[in-house]
Amino acid sequence: MGRKPSYVWHDGFAMPSGFPERAFDSALEYEAGPGDLFIATYPKCGTTWVQHIVHLIANRGAPLPAGRVLTDTIPHLEEVGRGVVEAMPKPRCIKTHLPRSLTPYHPAARYLLVTRNPFDCAVSFFHHTRGFIKHYDFADGSFDDYFECFIAGEVDFGDYFDHLLSWYAHSDDDNMLMLTYEGISADPRAAVLTIAQFMQADCARDEAVLAAVLEHSSFASMSKDQQRWSSARPDGMPAFVRRGVVGDWINHFSAAQAARLLEKFDRRLGGLSLEALWPETLAEARRLAATA
Ligand code: A3P
Repeated sequence: MGRKPSYVWHDGFAMPSGFPERAFDSALEYEAGPGDLFIATYPKCGTTWVQHIVHLIANRGAPLPAGRVLTDTIPHLEEVGRGVVEAMPKPRCIKTHLPRSLTPYHPAARYLLVTRNPFDCAVSFFHHTRGFIKHYDFADGSFDDYFECFIAGEVDFGDYFDHLLSWYAHSDDDNMLMLTYEGISADPRAAVLTIAQFMQADCARDEAVLAAVLEHSSFASMSKDQQRWSSARPDGMPAFVRRGVVGDWINHFSAAQAARLLEKFDRRLGGLSLEALWPETLAEARRLAATA
């Protein structure tokens, strides 16, 4: 048996240790309303990046003031609970990693789902889990150990595929927008314009605002200021805004691991339009898997 990160299991749901169970319970009772914008992601799919883009659009390109952290303006619902979110002025922007079935719903609220290919997600989640020692006690865990948990869906916020399928079922809803990490990475300008339109913000029509949003949300800019996005990591651990690339998975996966994740991908997502989201990653994974 390999090494496993530690989680708090609550109502069949795995959370990082330290997330209060009562906050999780109260989060489910939050009453979504008109004007709410939920940034809904499985962990490590680009949440913080899109949170920051949304913050910048809402503030006409002005970055967070000195001393403020992103969660002050866009809190994580199931980490802080209902009360903290209700105390925020409207319109509210809320981060959640909950599946669609547990996310508070209102037909006049908006839901922005960001997804990422599961190969890079698994690698990013591994480094995240190593780095947050107080949550997971996994500093000396290996990728091989973590992969077993990821593919079994036994990680915090559950199974990657369950989460994606829960949201995908609603992807044609008028109040839902689905983006990919890879799409934002390939064309950040188009992504910012799409997000601004979804937010019904006209500021991105202003070239100076758009340029400021793009500059302050770039990897170079965000990686300079890590403590705004997440609590500090101990020395020797990867930064929270880490590599910021598509395809780092190839540096971690064995051929056998690629074959196993592909098998699960095909079993869970085969025949759905989701397959078309990541043609290059899947082709690369199939090439590697064939050598197993
Ligand atoms: P990597 O670990 O692959 O580098 P989340 O916010 O959902 O936890 O996602 C974190 C991932 O998004 C990390 O991926 C992080 O580096 C990446 N990321 C954060 N800001 C980014 C940016 N401005 N540009 C590109 N990637 C970014």
